Amino acid sequence: MRSQTLVCFYLLFLLALFFSFHSATSKSHLQLKRGASLSVDDASDFLTSPDNSFTCGFHNLGSSNAYWFAIWFTNSKDKTIVWMANRDRPVNSRGSEVHFRGDGTMILTDVDGTVVWQTNTTTTDVAIAKVLNSGNLVLENPQGDILWQSFDFPTDTLLPFQTFTKNKRLTSALRKGSYESGYFNLNFGSDNVLRLISDTPDTSSNYWPNPDLNVYTNGRTNYNSSRVAFLDDMGRFLSSDQLQINASDMGYGIKRRMTIDYDGNLRIYSLMNSTGLWEITWQALRKPCSVLGVCGRNAICVYAPDPQCACPPGFEVNDPSDWNAGCRATFNETLLHSQQVKFMEIPHVDFYGFDLNWTSPITLEACRDMCLKDFRCLAFSYRILGQGFCYVKSALLNGYESPDFPASIYIKVPSSVQPPNPSSLFESGTMCGYAEPERIVGSPSMYDFTPKRVKWIYIYSFCAALGGLELMIIVLGWWFLFRKHGVPASVEAGYRMISSNFKRYAYAELKKATTNFKTELGRGGSGTVYIGVLSDGREVAVKKLGDVFQVQDEYSTEISTIGKINHMNLVRMWGFCSEGRHRLLVYEYIENSSLDKHLFNSNFLTWKQRFAVALGTAKGLAYLHHECLEWVIHCDVKPENILLDGEFQPKIADFGLAKLSQRGGPGSEFTRIRGTKGYMAPEWALNHPITAKVDVYGYGVVILEMVRGIRLSNWDVDDDYKNEAALTSFVRTVKKKIERGNSSWVESFVDPRLEGKFSRKQAETLVQIGLSCVEEDRNKRPTMASVVQTLLECEDDTEIQISDNL
Ligand SMILES: *[C@@H]1O[C@H](CO)[C@@H](O)[C@H](O)[C@H]1NC(C)=O
Ligand SMILES: *[C@@H]1O[C@H](CO)[C@@H](O)[C@H](O)[C@H]1NC(C)=O
Ligand SMILES: *[C@@H]1O[C@H](CO)[C@@H](O)[C@H](O)[C@H]1NC(C)=O
Ligand SMILES: *[C@@H]1O[C@H](CO)[C@@H](O)[C@H](O)[C@H]1NC(C)=O
Ligand SMILES: *[C@@H]1O[C@H](CO)[C@@H](O)[C@H](O)[C@H]1NC(C)=O
Ligand SMILES: *[C@@H]1O[C@H](CO)[C@@H](O)[C@H](O)[C@H]1NC(C)=O
Repeated sequence: MRSQTLVCFYLLFLLALFFSFHSATSKSHLQLKRGASLSVDDASDFLTSPDNSFTCGFHNLGSSNAYWFAIWFTNSKDKTIVWMANRDRPVNSRGSEVHFRGDGTMILTDVDGTVVWQTNTTTTDVAIAKVLNSGNLVLENPQGDILWQSFDFPTDTLLPFQTFTKNKRLTSALRKGSYESGYFNLNFGSDNVLRLISDTPDTSSNYWPNPDLNVYTNGRTNYNSSRVAFLDDMGRFLSSDQLQINASDMGYGIKRRMTIDYDGNLRIYSLMNSTGLWEITWQALRKPCSVLGVCGRNAICVYAPDPQCACPPGFEVNDPSDWNAGCRATFNETLLHSQQVKFMEIPHVDFYGFDLNWTSPITLEACRDMCLKDFRCLAFSYRILGQGFCYVKSALLNGYESPDFPASIYIKVPSSVQPPNPSSLFESGTMCGYAEPERIVGSPSMYDFTPKRVKWIYIYSFCAALGGLELMIIVLGWWFLFRKHGVPASVEAGYRMISSNFKRYAYAELKKATTNFKTELGRGGSGTVYIGVLSDGREVAVKKLGDVFQVQDEYSTEISTIGKINHMNLVRMWGFCSEGRHRLLVYEYIENSSLDKHLFNSNFLTWKQRFAVALGTAKGLAYLHHECLEWVIHCDVKPENILLDGEFQPKIADFGLAKLSQRGGPGSEFTRIRGTKGYMAPEWALNHPITAKVDVYGYGVVILEMVRGIRLSNWDVDDDYKNEAALTSFVRTVKKKIERGNSSWVESFVDPRLEGKFSRKQAETLVQIGLSCVEEDRNKRPTMASVVQTLLECEDDTEIQISDNL
């Protein structure tokens, strides 16, 4: 009797133990055994990784009934999904389950029993399913061998150490807030190169790396056929095609993911511990419009200045809520086959691909006739690059606008289509730093398409579409960075976007990096530059700004604009520090010092190097003037501000600083640090509004000096009159020689130290550009974009002439 009671108590005790144990663990498993299942009906039925960074279970979208079996970051605010089983087939919110069947297969069934997904592991001796700390869902045998893993079936995200191999692909989501497969893919091409490919219903095209350049120019190789890539735990992404990417916050201990977003861009994100939000630490494409097909059929991706989709005249938005849906004609398309058609010109726009034919040389009229005669032709693109090029288009796909694009698209429309209303003029600042886009000054074409002016009725914004992403990078990202107090709940999606590669540093950090500002690299109007090494090993140049920059709030936002600027010919800013009185900027370190050291000294540059510097500098300035998010005028173009990297490629330094100081105080201070005698355009003295043409002037002086090999500006000699005279007399002499029609005029103006080893054609081009750049009348000076174009046309002239007297 007594023993029976004991046994009874013992059993009760066991039962109680079992229940307490059970209730503590039933909801969150570390592993599933064969026969177990996870049910959608129990909202807390999960598998978690041992360190709890990843959760695996049912995940729904907003408040909908649709559920997916997925793995997500436990600690990210919006529970960011890293993997899904059959993303294109969600299951019902009731009665669906994942069952780890007795035969070893893991199977996802919908409420009606439909098998939506399965692991196909029937014949193996699988024992348990668990989620590893890496975010990998694995099925293991009793010996611990992995027989199946979710890492082999990526969706749109790659996690650290998830190897990306030959036959795998990442596919973007269809649209913001959806999970189904979209149009953009990352995978290895048959040529062994890792690419981003747009695969829309209309078209399929590569858009990264730059399809206009060859593999090697893109910094890749195609000889290694192993086709593997992975993100490591430091934030480095390495691929067998020699692609190497460093996240801007490279280092251990940070949770990262690489995701192809619904806008087609590939990004690396880092999770902020404190907020659970993601920060972008790298992205493949800086310009969203370079994602081919991003706007859909008939639509054009424009920068106004934020990326937007626009419909050409005669077309209207298909679906304002879907940025990929493109535009439809407002006219009856059969009218295009009648005789009553005309062409609407849109400058600087192209529809990539779908050429029925291309012809050159050809006149605009002949090109138009070709399109008129061919009923398949919907538009033609015409450009003059030395001679006329005509591209006849059979479809209006991949439309994008690029201020540098030296051509117009002419769209065929019925004569009845009205041109859009003339747009109101864009009011632009004229101070340095806020450039007036030069294109506005030029002769506006009938259907003007200038960014910032564009007021098309049919612009529909990426806000609805790309909104959470790009726009936040552009508009809100910085705001967040500098408001430390919490993120407004109104910003949904939980993304804290920060333009890539940019960081706020503590003063102590920079003090340490520069060993208490020990080694001075240089000194200029805006401050002193010191060399330093960051804790992650990066060599940097730290600039201590002078007193002109004692501005409080604006400082951060202005700096942020500079930090977003990223071009191979511009010195990259990695961050800044604003602490107490201290204002510092952190730049990449450029090893070969500035152009003046290689031009006016004994270790002079070869002709080839000089031409490359002239071209690169022009590209950098063109980018600042025409292409970046906010047009920036440098205001101090001179050899001292053109740095040379290891390959003697130029990188322009000190851009955007005019913006900073401008707000700092009265104009006197501002001009005090901007502009350098000898490189300053005459309008500075005349107190005229400052436009990008001041940089064109400075550039003109610099390239003339590069050809000549001596200072024409002599700005360090304190004699205004004489300085003027050096350049003026040079210009006068050259012009005289050219007028005389002497075919070898250029010889006498090229640096004699080159001993005749230069390309005559290139030298002539440089001198002629230089002359036009230093015109007194700024309207006669070319734009930097057209300078780039002219230089590109003679870039390949490798014939180096050897002078007669050698
Ligand atoms: C399992 O096999 C089916 C049919 O062969 C296939 O469609 C499915 O993709 C496979 N699933 C996995 C996870 O391999
Ligand atoms: C190809 O790439 C892989 C992975 O990056 C590397 O291990 C291998 O050595 C490379 N092979 C050659 C021939 O370079
Ligand atoms: C990435 O960082 C490594 C040092 O860890 C450096 O050698 C490499 O050049 C960097 N790559 C890029 C593309 O910046
Ligand atoms: C974030 O948290 C993890 C673990 O909780 C820690 O190891 C890591 O150092 C933290 N990172 C930062 C940047 O605070
Ligand atoms: C377009 O015009 C053609 C010929 O004028 C006509 O037959 C057709 O019905 C029209 N289509 C629409 C959608 O109006
Ligand atoms: C392209 O145009 C030229 C000249 O009009 C013509 O001779 C040629 O056949 C065309 N090619 C194609 C593929 O249509």
